[in-house]
Amino acid sequence: MSDQQVDNSKRRFLLLATSGAGAVAVAGVATPFIASFFPSERAKAAGAPVEVDISKLELGQKIDVEYRGKPVWIVKRTPEMLANLPKLDGKLADPKSDDSEQPDYAKNTWRSKKPEVWVATGVCTHLGCSPTFRPELAPADLGSDWLGGYFCPCHGSKYDLSGRVYSSMPAPKNLPIPPYAFLSDTRLKIGE
Ligand code: FES
Repeated sequence: MSDQQVDNSKRRFLLLATSGAGAVAVAGVATPFIASFFPSERAKAAGAPVEVDISKLELGQKIDVEYRGKPVWIVKRTPEMLANLPKLDGKLADPKSDDSEQPDYAKNTWRSKKPEVWVATGVCTHLGCSPTFRPELAPADLGSDWLGGYFCPCHGSKYDLSGRVYSSMPAPKNLPIPPYAFLSDTRLKIGE
């Protein structure tokens, strides 16, 4: 699966969520991830945690799941992506995430429990659009100093690959991180 294909799942997610027919989930209708979700409709409506099998998530890929009616992203970051994060601190509004929402275990540069696996709520902190995954380096539309991240097409907010918002953006805060736990190396529980 290419990055583009994986990110296309976001669009499918949004379609499903708005149609009301498949608020069940997820990351690409045709992917194996569908089988990873166990909560009943009633449990989901109550905000029950969802379990996600990330065993097939490859380096550099992103998948979407739904938790409490919002898209939650899971990204497996490469060593290069992680190495680039500290370089951006001077360009960010809240590099230490002091004024942003995350569990204590995600209050670090990676904003995650395990550096390589990143989990976040994929909703822009400006007016709630879902930003686009832009992991490529220096694309023409985002500039030669772009080291990968998320771009919100609604009003142009930019976030790095930890969901930390750049300075002077419409979005005031970093992307929120929901509570989550590793049930094993390949299995995540989103929510509490
Ligand atoms: S909703 Fe994302 S920049 Fe406005």
